[in-house]
Amino acid sequence: MKISFKSQSDADIQAFIIDENGALPSAAAELDEISGGLLTEALAVERFSGKLGQHAIVVMPKSAEARRVVLMGGGKSKDRGTLAHERIGAELVRGQAMSGFKSLAITVEDTEGAAAVAAGAKLAAYRFDTYFTKLKAEQKPSVKTLTVVTEDDKGAKAAFKSADAETDGTCLARDLMNEPPNVLYPESFAARAKELEKHGLEVEILGEKEMEKLGMGGLLGVGQGSIRESKLAVMKWMGGKAGDDPVCLVGKGVCFDTGGISLKPGAAMQDMKGDMGGAAAVTGTMLALAKRKAKANVIGLIGLVENMPDGNAIRPGDILTSMSGQTIEVQNTDAEGRLVLCDVLWYAQEQYAPKAIVNLATLTGAIIISLGHENAGLFSNDDDLAEALTAAGKTSGETVWRLPLGEAYDGLLKSKFADMRNIGGRAAGSITAAQFLKRFIKEGQAWAHLDIAGVAWREGKKDATDPSWPSGFGPRLLSQWIADKYED
Ligand code: BES
Ligand code: MN
Ligand code: ZN
Repeated sequence: MKISFKSQSDADIQAFIIDENGALPSAAAELDEISGGLLTEALAVERFSGKLGQHAIVVMPKSAEARRVVLMGGGKSKDRGTLAHERIGAELVRGQAMSGFKSLAITVEDTEGAAAVAAGAKLAAYRFDTYFTKLKAEQKPSVKTLTVVTEDDKGAKAAFKSADAETDGTCLARDLMNEPPNVLYPESFAARAKELEKHGLEVEILGEKEMEKLGMGGLLGVGQGSIRESKLAVMKWMGGKAGDDPVCLVGKGVCFDTGGISLKPGAAMQDMKGDMGGAAAVTGTMLALAKRKAKANVIGLIGLVENMPDGNAIRPGDILTSMSGQTIEVQNTDAEGRLVLCDVLWYAQEQYAPKAIVNLATLTGAIIISLGHENAGLFSNDDDLAEALTAAGKTSGETVWRLPLGEAYDGLLKSKFADMRNIGGRAAGSITAAQFLKRFIKEGQAWAHLDIAGVAWREGKKDATDPSWPSGFGPRLLSQWIADKYED
């Protein structure tokens, strides 16, 4: 769907935002008149109050140029911020994309609102059709263009720039997660990361040989049961001041998680192709930063492996030596994400002395029990960082909720045979996973861990901005945080 901003439009479908319990906006007056008052009548229908999420469709008489008018509930105008505008754009696309008409327009009063409507529309228009070979024309969207009609169309276009970049990041993260695991595996994921060089990023790929030299026994241990070579991709965007310490973003990229020898049950195992959601989020963020030319130094590092059962796979009882030198008794090969992250986190600190590290991972099923699909779990050793991420979550709509860390939880990681074990027991599973990661964070290093297992893909009724299997959670949150905190 091509999105543009204009001061008027002759699209087939014309949409307008209606204030809750409000009158028809003046921009719709002419269409109301042509139709002999059909729009006013639609507003008078008892159950249409203009609440956010409601809409009414009016079929126009032949004499009118527009074929349909859609009245979009806008809620109370004083509450209509960025997220409400996004929702309106998304609901409009969800409702009309398959309508059979080709062009769609919506009139939006304020400039920032117009940009947000466009962002919501773009998120809702996302599709991943790559592997359908038999789609008929009527199974594909008919709407090809969306015109956001607004007085200051140039201003709206400028305001859309960064949201456009960020939603490109979201869509890339979705694409990566949607790809099947026979197509997207460590090497091919690394190649996708490498492609970002055309957007001005510098991308470096480490293979198993290099990682062995570095002593990454955790990451390599997870990957050793797979016929696919493990990779570490490092994506650099240095748009800030030269010499300024970077921010590091670290992603869990388990391209498929069978559980390994501690094999997962079969039901829904196919979802574990999404266990690279953290890496997808980091990759999407790097694209967003490059596209909007962020004035910050940011390095994305993704640990790419496949966790398979095999004659060469790690066993429960094996002891791995991480790059940090700390040893880990593997008690459950399905607690693999932390084994990957511990080495990538250590590498990031050794290599780049970052001013902050944020890692993202579909780390624990337990976080779904704690927070459901509404918030990512946030763990941090730094209150300012935690608050900044929480605030960026509220602004971007990708919300996070902080959970505690603490000594007592850390004690649950004690092993009889090594410096630690890789599980903490049934209780507080997400917290003990976070405690494990914290053991690989140096003294004084600001760090946050986002457990995105509940939000990377969602069950149940979903928002119109989230139309695919994966949500693409991450790029909008991280880009917002970087903009708030590191750019002026
Ligand atoms: N990738 C899973 C976590 C997960 C579960 C993500 C459901 C998304 C949806 C992770 O590697 C895992 O298997 N974690 C185990 C940890 C346990 C063995 C300590 C879990 O959550 O059961
Ligand atoms: Mn696992
Ligand atoms: Zn996993």
